[in-house]
Amino acid sequence: MTDQNLTRRERLPVRIHADSHEASIAVAAEIDALIRLKAARNETCVLGLATGSSPVTVYDELVRRHREDGLSFRNVVTFNLDEYYPMEPTNLQSYVRFMHEHLFDHIDIPPANVHIPDGTLPREEVAAFCADYEAKIAAHGGLDLQLLGIGRTGHIGFNEPGSGRDSRTRLITLDHITITDAASDFFGEENVPRKAITMGVGTILAARRIVMLAWGEGKAAIIRETVEGPVSDGVPATYLQNHAGKNVAIVLDEAAAAKLTRRQTPWLLGEINWDDALIRKAVIWLSKTLKKPILQLTNRDYAEHGMGDLVTEHDDAYQINIRIFNDLQRTITGWPGGKPNAHDDDRRPVPGKPTRKRVVLFSPHPDDDVISMGGTFLRLHDQGHDVHVAYQTSGNIAVFDDDVLRMADFIEDFGDFFELKSERTSEFFGEISGQIRSKVPGTVDSRDVQELKRLIRRSEAKAGARYVGIPEENMHFLDLPFYETGLVKKKPLGEEDIQLTVDLLERVKPHQIYAAGDLSDPHGTHRVCLLSVFRAVERLKDQPWMQDCQVWLYRGAWQEWDVEDIEMAVPLSPDEIVRKRRAIFKHQSQKDRPLFPGHDS
Ligand code: F6R
Repeated sequence: MTDQNLTRRERLPVRIHADSHEASIAVAAEIDALIRLKAARNETCVLGLATGSSPVTVYDELVRRHREDGLSFRNVVTFNLDEYYPMEPTNLQSYVRFMHEHLFDHIDIPPANVHIPDGTLPREEVAAFCADYEAKIAAHGGLDLQLLGIGRTGHIGFNEPGSGRDSRTRLITLDHITITDAASDFFGEENVPRKAITMGVGTILAARRIVMLAWGEGKAAIIRETVEGPVSDGVPATYLQNHAGKNVAIVLDEAAAAKLTRRQTPWLLGEINWDDALIRKAVIWLSKTLKKPILQLTNRDYAEHGMGDLVTEHDDAYQINIRIFNDLQRTITGWPGGKPNAHDDDRRPVPGKPTRKRVVLFSPHPDDDVISMGGTFLRLHDQGHDVHVAYQTSGNIAVFDDDVLRMADFIEDFGDFFELKSERTSEFFGEISGQIRSKVPGTVDSRDVQELKRLIRRSEAKAGARYVGIPEENMHFLDLPFYETGLVKKKPLGEEDIQLTVDLLERVKPHQIYAAGDLSDPHGTHRVCLLSVFRAVERLKDQPWMQDCQVWLYRGAWQEWDVEDIEMAVPLSPDEIVRKRRAIFKHQSQKDRPLFPGHDS
């Protein structure tokens, strides 16, 4: 298909990269070139900058270019999009702090050239500050390039739905969805400021060039609306379609691009080169769109939905229907560890031999095992396999302070009752409850409180796995160090994380590995946990036992697999559903109201 056909529905120029890393490097290269071009002409380069998770790697790469490739920021003036209000610049969640930690502290930009909205002003001074911010941008000749992320509401900067096309820098009220998304950074929704100072839509559109970044499946739906939808104040990002110079780039990774027509249903745009994966995707889509069982799809259904050429190639719709139907049917099995002595063994997702398999189930947080693959977990155990669970992180930041106090009370009373308590224990719990009671919302716990929270989640994980029937020696708590920052923001994956994973796999030598395949985890922990498994498998791939080992990815916490991607589906009986639910309910500290709820209700 021609490129023109493929992008027919797109109203903004889109660049899709294989992953967000590659995309970020390309964006940093563009900014680098612009800064150098301006420097060569003795001009200042005026950049509009964004915070959030999207631009982090762009800033990393700019810092690298400064350190290694001689990129200087002496001629750069920056204006940041926004800041929470009220907000102290030293707070963990401050965008001033963010910008310094990620960029300004590592480059040679003159401090006077940096502008970020001020979250410390008294309310009556905000309007004048905003007018002055606009005046400063104008005095520097306007923005040469504005970097943007996009919120799930379609906000750019903090211009939430309802913002006008000509809005300027001002104080705004955050949308409920934005507050939910920020809750994890603030250790709970109730701590998120309700307001922010943001550049307006008009301010952003006046930039000579705009580059928007979006990564991950969580952004796919809003990107489709932004790129293919009509301009509307309900999705402020669609205003980019009205950029005067039409100088906008929407830079995406494959996951964020997944809902664009060219990726989701390219057959609607013109003739395409069909392969097996596309045929499967298209037939399932057709069946869902028409709400018709696959076996009832007709030649006409295919023809009316851009799939006529497929029928011509295969003579008849039924030939395609039956093939896809059989394919899907074979993915369904009640035997996730393989069915012993099955006559159709070669067509099942898992071979029958050996009949007793060694299995390692990696659970990123202490409850993902039972939440996201609880039914499969139960079946593997009930069918006699040697199942090990590896809890990858401690999950400690998701425990409410209140639960620590409750546990501390219990331990104190327990000590009193059995006369086991020492003076030191009393003192210790006195300190802990003092720390918790005087804690400022949104700050990091002391090491001791973090440890107690870790132990609370560990005991719940044990209770869940015990309920499934797993012996204690098969429960492994890896407590991967990348997680232990006390913050939602984690360290990158390190050598020690990989080594702990390698060690466990070498000890068990599994025939099956199950790992959480959530690539859209908003906090990134699942992604890093998955990477640690991939890296470990890569290192071990030449071991003889690895030749018979399969890696399966499960999902559930944020997103389900699309039907066309599923290679094994394990049905649950009503009884098993009840048991799965009970296992989940062992996670008491997460049960009533998790601290960091996902978007998937
Ligand atoms: C940040 C900003 C916001 C973010 C958006 C996406 O300065 O103004 O519009 O760009 O909320 O955030 P992330 O990148 O964290 O998904």
